[in-house]
Amino acid sequence: MKKVLVLHGPNLNMFGKREPTHYGTITLKEIDEKIEALASELGFAAECYQTNHEGEMVERIHRAHEERVDAVVINAGAWTHYSYALMDALGILKVPIVEVHMSHVHAREQFRHYSVVAPLAQGQITGFGVNSYLLGVRAAWDLIKNNGQ
Ligand code: DQA
Repeated sequence: MKKVLVLHGPNLNMFGKREPTHYGTITLKEIDEKIEALASELGFAAECYQTNHEGEMVERIHRAHEERVDAVVINAGAWTHYSYALMDALGILKVPIVEVHMSHVHAREQFRHYSVVAPLAQGQITGFGVNSYLLGVRAAWDLIKNNGQ
């Protein structure tokens, strides 16, 4: 079965409690449940992983390379805007990458407009709350079916 790995970066475990004007009240567990339900409806496996530790995220991406996951959907949180270690790790992958954000990063502070993930991703989905993830997972699935096109 094809597999999409969904990666959540720092502070995203606090969705539900964190800045509801930007992120709403949905929890990460609820987001993951919606992702898993969509994946099973569409007929592939989704694994969701969250960490607040940059090195752990880098190592999870290395494992994704070894495991040959079929696509990665990533909300890298604040690492999006400055982590060259994350960028280099994602650069190792040969599978489609979809960048997602709950809030509309381009409508927020200037520092959120730059993404180290974007040049490595097929595309970016930002500003639709939990739907950013669900649209991102659908995009990843289409990319898998169409060989990355
Ligand atoms: C975020 C946007 C980032 O700028 C921020 O640092 C986050 C969450 C989002 O999902 O909107 O932690 O990635």
